[in-house]
Amino acid sequence: MPNTSQSLFERGLKVLVEGVSSASRGPATFGGAPRYMSHGQGARLYDVDGREYIDWMMAFGALPLGHAHPAIVETVSREILRGSHFATALEVEVEVAEMLVALLPHVDKVRFANTGTEAGMAAFRLARGHTGRRKIIKFEGHYHGWWDSVLVNTNPMPMAALGHPNSPIRIPDSSGILEESFADTIVVRWNDIPALERAMALHGREAACVVTEGVMSNMGVIPPKPGYLMRIQELCREYGALFYLDETVTGFRLAAGGCAELYGLTPDIVTYGKAIGGGMPMALIGGRDDVMSGLEWGKVLHFGTHNAGRLALHVTKTMLQTMLADNQAGFRKIKDLGQKMAAEVTRVARLSNRHKIVVQSVNSMFQIFFTDLDEVTDYRDFCGHVDRAKFRDFALRLMDKGVYMNPSATLHSLSSIVHTEADIAATAHAVGLVLDEMP
Ligand SMILES: Cc1ncc(COP(=O)(O)O)c(C=O)c1O
Repeated sequence: MPNTSQSLFERGLKVLVEGVSSASRGPATFGGAPRYMSHGQGARLYDVDGREYIDWMMAFGALPLGHAHPAIVETVSREILRGSHFATALEVEVEVAEMLVALLPHVDKVRFANTGTEAGMAAFRLARGHTGRRKIIKFEGHYHGWWDSVLVNTNPMPMAALGHPNSPIRIPDSSGILEESFADTIVVRWNDIPALERAMALHGREAACVVTEGVMSNMGVIPPKPGYLMRIQELCREYGALFYLDETVTGFRLAAGGCAELYGLTPDIVTYGKAIGGGMPMALIGGRDDVMSGLEWGKVLHFGTHNAGRLALHVTKTMLQTMLADNQAGFRKIKDLGQKMAAEVTRVARLSNRHKIVVQSVNSMFQIFFTDLDEVTDYRDFCGHVDRAKFRDFALRLMDKGVYMNPSATLHSLSSIVHTEADIAATAHAVGLVLDEMP
């Protein structure tokens, strides 16, 4: 069989760093050549050799409508004829903002950006500008984009490097980050109320914000313990820090209103990305009027040539209309499919009985952990007890059977409205075969 991916990888290595444009797509994650993809249709991806995959990665969650959804194809085909981007004020910008404000009770105003990282950078600056405080409290294992001040403790590390759980050692995840960039970043263990109470007693009055993912989505899928997120919100109110909920992964994904809706929260600042753009680069910062007004000219600066791209906004509008139609049927569907998928994989893993597996899921997101634990509840469980090499082997073998999941155990899989019960059955069958053949 031809291996065009391998030859593209060899060509790519000569002109692209590691042959790709992000480590999660290349040899750092795949161990060698990744599969180079040619096109997508519905829930399927096709590689350059014509192999077909049921896609459970869905561009890291950016595609709630799957690939080449007719409504999005129609939108892009119609709008591209009228120009791609003007960098001017737009009617569709107002329309999409109105839809979002109507949908999200904690959001009075929005500001559009392009990526979750950028939206986060503006949100952190806004939190500091609004409160006049320096410190940012973040959690172990939470990723908020690749900006220097928060790119600490986001990758799995050996347990011995982590320090005491009450006072984690801050570990920058990149060279080139100055210590002063994260000198005011406090790292706290997640899902641990006493740990946060202690941190707030020490730093709460100097904290501009406490930032959290609603569901820990960059260590597989780790749900918050009951009441945990609400306790973060209460502590923020008590200490006058802003409660910043990073919904880049979970927004327009776990519910129309993301984790804020799912867990009954009223964050002061939220950022969204990924799913909101339906496959186009789109992200946004949202929040209460008094907080968001900090982004007015002369206060906290946020610029961007590509902010509120008109094509991306039209696609966002179509994505929202499609998912929200029929009383949010799209969100019910992805939840239902995600939950069925998690149950099926769990069932098949039990039948196979050769490997200890835990499947964790929240609505349309799920991840499969090879672990000796019964439950993975935080970053330290993940670092100490999740076999990442085994997951990579599992995911690469699944690819040979026509099922695509990212080979990194720190990521997760997601359903879209175009997945079907037949896709779930085919995936479960492939999972069973792989588990039986794996050493
Ligand atoms: C929770 C969270 N915040 C922010 C980001 C950064 O988003 P982007 O990759 O669009 O810059 C990510 C990306 O995975 C994320 O998972």
